[in-house]
Amino acid sequence: GSPRDLAGRRVVVSAGGTREAIDPVRFIGNRSSGLQGYALARTAVARGAEVTLIAANVTLPDPAGVKVVRVESTAQLREAVLSASEGADAVVMAAAVADFRPVTRATSKIKKTSDDPEAIRLTKNPDILAELGVRRTQARNSATPADGTPADGTPADGTPADGTAAGGTLADGTAAEGVAASGTAAGGGVGGPAVIVGFAAETDDVLANGQAKLARKGCDLLVVNQVGEHLAFGTPDNAATILVAGGDPVEVPRGPKEDLADTLWSLVAARLAE
Ligand code: C5P
Repeated sequence: GSPRDLAGRRVVVSAGGTREAIDPVRFIGNRSSGLQGYALARTAVARGAEVTLIAANVTLPDPAGVKVVRVESTAQLREAVLSASEGADAVVMAAAVADFRPVTRATSKIKKTSDDPEAIRLTKNPDILAELGVRRTQARNSATPADGTPADGTPADGTPADGTAAGGTLADGTAAEGVAASGTAAGGGVGGPAVIVGFAAETDDVLANGQAKLARKGCDLLVVNQVGEHLAFGTPDNAATILVAGGDPVEVPRGPKEDLADTLWSLVAARLAE
């Protein structure tokens, strides 16, 4: 049986992949099946959590006992994730988010022409994961004396240092002042989730690129998938390295996506208990 170590915790999981409309019938998308995110939702329920699953273009049935919010575009995913993660104990961004979207969406179907078509101009999408980190930091800073920010070597990119073990203890006793009482562990309050988890597919320099991404995005845990091994997308198995802010990486050998999910929830529960 599963440990009930997420009992009383509220967690948010994003799954699937966003689609960006080109016209009413066409989109730019990706091959994410949502299987890993759904495994995360199921295992979190089994461990006692209250789970909101934000599903982007997933064809799987709703898991039992989970609040499912279905979205299509990155803008919709962003709204749903930011709103659900206010005061949440953990957010896991397992969704594959489109990096770019068409600048304009044609209101009627683009017609076939004898000439080559016009190029589709793209613009950058917002980085939801990074935004969650910024929101959490802002909430903590407004709830903590000015000297309370931990220095952890996070790159000076305008994002205050966060996402470390030190950051996780920062709100002890102080968060309650500026953050609505949620009855949860440090950081779970208005403005940002307590624990932030990202996923990253890397092809080379997995550890170095992953560590840089962990710091850049201000997350606590980053699940790094080595891509190009016929793992991940659309398959029931996964293998990954979980990078831990302020700690040693955890290797998850190839196995069912539930196994990776359970290892991840154990790390999340440990951080919440700090
Ligand atoms: O930067 P990269 O796309 O590799 O980061 C992947 C992680 O960031 C995933 O957790 C994904 O859900 C999240 N992400 C996001 N918003 C984006 C792009 C990625 O939240 N625009």
